[in-house]
Amino acid sequence: MMIAVAGGTGLAGRAVVEEAVACGHRVRSLSRHLPAAEKRVPGAEYLRVDFRTGAGVAAALEGVDALIETMDARSGAALRSLPVMSVAVLAAAAQAGVRRCVLLTIVRAGECPMGYYQAQAARALSYEKSSMATSVVYATQFHNLVAGVFGTGAKVGVIPAFNGVSFQPVSTADVARTLVEEAQPGGDGRGASRSVIVGGPEAKTMKELALEWKAATGSGAVVAAMPLPGSFGAFLRAGKNLVPEHAVGQETFGAWLKVRAGA
Ligand SMILES: NC(=O)c1ccc[n+]([C@@H]2O[C@H](COP(=O)([O-])OP(=O)(O)OC[C@H]3O[C@@H](n4cnc5c(N)ncnc54)[C@H](OP(=O)(O)O)[C@@H]3O)[C@@H](O)[C@H]2O)c1
Repeated sequence: MMIAVAGGTGLAGRAVVEEAVACGHRVRSLSRHLPAAEKRVPGAEYLRVDFRTGAGVAAALEGVDALIETMDARSGAALRSLPVMSVAVLAAAAQAGVRRCVLLTIVRAGECPMGYYQAQAARALSYEKSSMATSVVYATQFHNLVAGVFGTGAKVGVIPAFNGVSFQPVSTADVARTLVEEAQPGGDGRGASRSVIVGGPEAKTMKELALEWKAATGSGAVVAAMPLPGSFGAFLRAGKNLVPEHAVGQETFGAWLKVRAGA
């Protein structure tokens, strides 16, 4: 198969490109900026495409069998246009004769009022309502995100452990495996439009994860319990980021840290 990865240079996208190449697919990474040669996955093709303006899109989708969308935007106009970009991805894919589109998004994003999560929920809805064959993959927070919060705090001497908050972090490699599986055509008895939930292998309190991170990195910062106010805090304290019944990821936070400690 020829698989295009929209956002193939991002954190999750790179893992998808690696997985798809390892599975023997032809792979095209699509993003606005091209990575330096040493940062490219050997065997993948890299094309400059902007799904916000449409530049380069039609040519990039020629001959593509399946498209996996892992684009992201965190704030401002880029975030506001994220749901529109997903609509543009689906329209361009339909026009190009792409047979299946797969979206990566976040578990229960629709239940968190934060703008970033609402944008994630809106794009999932576009995929679910599309007349194309689609899969939406809902993942829990990445190990990188949780470690990033600890690392940022440690720079000022405090590793935050939000009161009443647990995470079930997952590795991007585990998520990538599901995304590439979902890019396969139907015919296995499952419907044309599917959704899959991918949770990490274990849920732990933020304090437990913080202590693991501190031990693995040798950080001298202090693990400190603190409140997380606002709607995101309420979302996390309600455990809406957890899917214990979908603990399909294999790499634990501890195992992931062992490979990357200090990175
Ligand atoms: N972070 C988490 O814990 C987590 C957990 C579960 C699910 N997710 C999902 O994972 C997705 C990917 O997150 P990530 O952290 O891997 O994102 P990321 O590292 O920020 O990567 C974003 C990618 O999108 C590309 N992109 C952005 N705007 C574009 C445009 N207009 N046209 C073409 N490409 C564009 C970027 O490349 P250029 O900037 O060069 O264009 C980059 O390749 C998120 O949307 C979220 O739904 C994240």
